[in-house]
Amino acid sequence: MHTRLSVNINKIATLRNARGGNIPDVIKTAKDCELFGAEGITVHPRPDERHIRYDDVIELKEAVTTELNIEGYPTNEFLALVLKVKPTQCTLVPDASNVITSNQGWDTIKHKDFLKDVIEQLHEFGIRTSLFINPVEQFIEGAKIVNSNCIELYTGPFANIFTIDKYKAISPYVQSAKYAQSLDLKVNAGHDLNLENLAFFKKNIPFTAEVSIGHALISDALYYGLNNTIQMYLRQLKSIGS
Ligand code: PXP
Repeated sequence: MHTRLSVNINKIATLRNARGGNIPDVIKTAKDCELFGAEGITVHPRPDERHIRYDDVIELKEAVTTELNIEGYPTNEFLALVLKVKPTQCTLVPDASNVITSNQGWDTIKHKDFLKDVIEQLHEFGIRTSLFINPVEQFIEGAKIVNSNCIELYTGPFANIFTIDKYKAISPYVQSAKYAQSLDLKVNAGHDLNLENLAFFKKNIPFTAEVSIGHALISDALYYGLNNTIQMYLRQLKSIGS
């Protein structure tokens, strides 16, 4: 089964912001990622705009010809941006405003009413919704109850344990992904996926609809170049893994 590679380009914006000016060019990078085979572009505008800026997201809407996925915590400002841009997909993440990177998934039971309301608004604008969650059955069931179209499994813990025991690392993800599938939820995955662990993830959860990858992919591109790197990640998604 085909798994889309969505490249998270936040790190490109971080590099640009370090100097001011427009090098590297975030919009050109997004277009080049698509040219090199990426099937989606992901951005995660944070409240302080330290990576991708709200203006970038508006420009990306015009530039991206595959799927634009906007991730983030649904503040009023974030939601106003998403409803204006109308991306293909919006991934809701329970980030505290001061975190370095996303480090946990939603408690979909505790935040049921809030999530239901936000998802309803996004659906009114025809935006596919995904909820970032840990591989926990009750939270997956909660994602179904609030009418999300997809879940994005938070793969940080998988990536950590993978280096010690890959079978132990993948086990809760396989179980959760199958459970999500049984509820007719599409399964996405993201965080800390890389050239070491991606093929194994894909082999074990072949019906993964989309992976969004930023940090490792952009770092690999320093050595291999962006075009080669994207080919390498696409190959991981096609190989049978080990
Ligand atoms: N998914 C979510 C919800 C994220 O917050 C991030 C990081 O911005 C990613 C996926 C991508 O993670 P990484 O940069 O480790 O590939």
